[in-house]
Amino acid sequence: MNNNSFTLLLVHRMLNFVSAVLLLTLVGVVSPQCITTNDTQSPPLHPDLGHILPFSLGLFKELYVPGSATGNFFFSPFSIWNALVLAYFGSAGRTREQLQRVLNLKNPADTLATYKAVDRLSDYVIDLANRIYVDVNLPLRDCVNHVLSEEVQLLNFSQVNEAANKINQFVSETTRSKITQVVTPLDLENAVMAVVNAAYFKGLWLTPFKTSLTSKDKFFTSPNQHTLVDMMNLNDYFKVGISSELGATVLELPYKGEAASMFVLLPDSAATDDNTTTPLDSMLTRLTPYTLRAALATLTNQEVVIKIPKFEMEKRIKKELKGALQRLGIRDIFSNSADMSIFDPSRQIILEETIHKAVIEVNEEGSEAAAATVGFFIKILPFRIICNRPFLFFIHDNHTHNILFMGVYRQP
Ligand SMILES: *[C@@H]1O[C@H](CO)[C@@H](O)[C@H](O)[C@H]1NC(C)=O
Ligand SMILES: *[C@@H]1O[C@H](CO)[C@@H](O)[C@H](O)[C@H]1NC(C)=O
Ligand SMILES: *[C@@H]1O[C@H](CO)[C@@H](O)[C@H](O)[C@H]1NC(C)=O
Ligand SMILES: *[C@@H]1O[C@H](CO)[C@@H](O)[C@H](O)[C@H]1NC(C)=O
Repeated sequence: MNNNSFTLLLVHRMLNFVSAVLLLTLVGVVSPQCITTNDTQSPPLHPDLGHILPFSLGLFKELYVPGSATGNFFFSPFSIWNALVLAYFGSAGRTREQLQRVLNLKNPADTLATYKAVDRLSDYVIDLANRIYVDVNLPLRDCVNHVLSEEVQLLNFSQVNEAANKINQFVSETTRSKITQVVTPLDLENAVMAVVNAAYFKGLWLTPFKTSLTSKDKFFTSPNQHTLVDMMNLNDYFKVGISSELGATVLELPYKGEAASMFVLLPDSAATDDNTTTPLDSMLTRLTPYTLRAALATLTNQEVVIKIPKFEMEKRIKKELKGALQRLGIRDIFSNSADMSIFDPSRQIILEETIHKAVIEVNEEGSEAAAATVGFFIKILPFRIICNRPFLFFIHDNHTHNILFMGVYRQP
């Protein structure tokens, strides 16, 4: 290469460099946005979360598999959705695509606007709060603290007891002490960030049950087996319907204020011909966003006699939740390919575990329910080889592809 062409090459490279710098600067000026393409997009006036239904039912069926699940189950898909949406805000690339698809989100800007709109609903039926606890040694991009100023809080995760206390305290306050412990210090070992949702609901029945009419009555766990339960009784006008698609009777029990209702889907008692599925299981198998919407669309006001047990239940899920989310398609965030670069440009963190806890109490006056979801992130560990147990070794000659020496070390 002669001097002239060398100079040209140099100039060319410099121009490339200058234009790259210019481009970067322009991008910085044109789009000062942090989490989405427009972090200040106007929130919708009437936020609609109807699009979450496929996620809620899909997750329910992964956690409570029709045909094989037994016993009681209770959870809040919306609480889990909220915690994962926080993670979604921090994600990029394929990690973000997977979350977006499974959580049924349109795009980051719309999601952020809807998220903020729901947060600001003053008459919302559910008390909801979200936090992103960040370790003192994990600097998030500064702009994240502005966009999610209420959520982001610093926490010293090296002090696991204090960190667990802080998270449990937040959950306990939001859930009016219905959930006082969702994480243990052991859960937080190695954690550097946690996304947390806590939710609390209390509704009084629009038409309460009379305590005096509650009495011991049979509840059939199978056609031939029953236990005695405290059965509540009521005779009044309610919206009811029959769904032949689901094989169930549907009842709506509205709460005061009529902003929320409990829906009960009672499978037909006619046992199926083969003894392998119960009526409940066959209804659950047929439960889809489509069949559920159709079933709820046909209710009419009628006088009905209602008998329903008082009940209480509590459920904590951990490993099962991670497995269910992975089967639904949220995979990268749990692996070394996790891309959380919107929060952490160094791309050092991955979602290690998710914990969910939910409680409910249903009685004559109404219902009280609470839920909490915690997803905690750890730093990707460097690949480690700790030779603290017996191992094989040999010395190899690269030129002749030949083992020169060979041995086993097992006895210090
Ligand atoms: C972002 O949204 C706001 C409100 O909807 C709008 O005024 C603004 O022009 C948008 N900015 C960009 C960069 O699109
Ligand atoms: C966090 O806690 C560790 C362990 O107690 C302590 O050594 C460290 O100084 C703390 N860091 C900050 C920033 O407070
Ligand atoms: C179902 O159960 C009944 C009684 O337990 C039994 O007589 C019948 O053969 C069973 N049917 C099938 C298809 O297994
Ligand atoms: C020996 O060969 C392998 C590949 O054939 C190469 O990666 C390695 O660097 C070589 N080792 C040395 C010490 O040259």
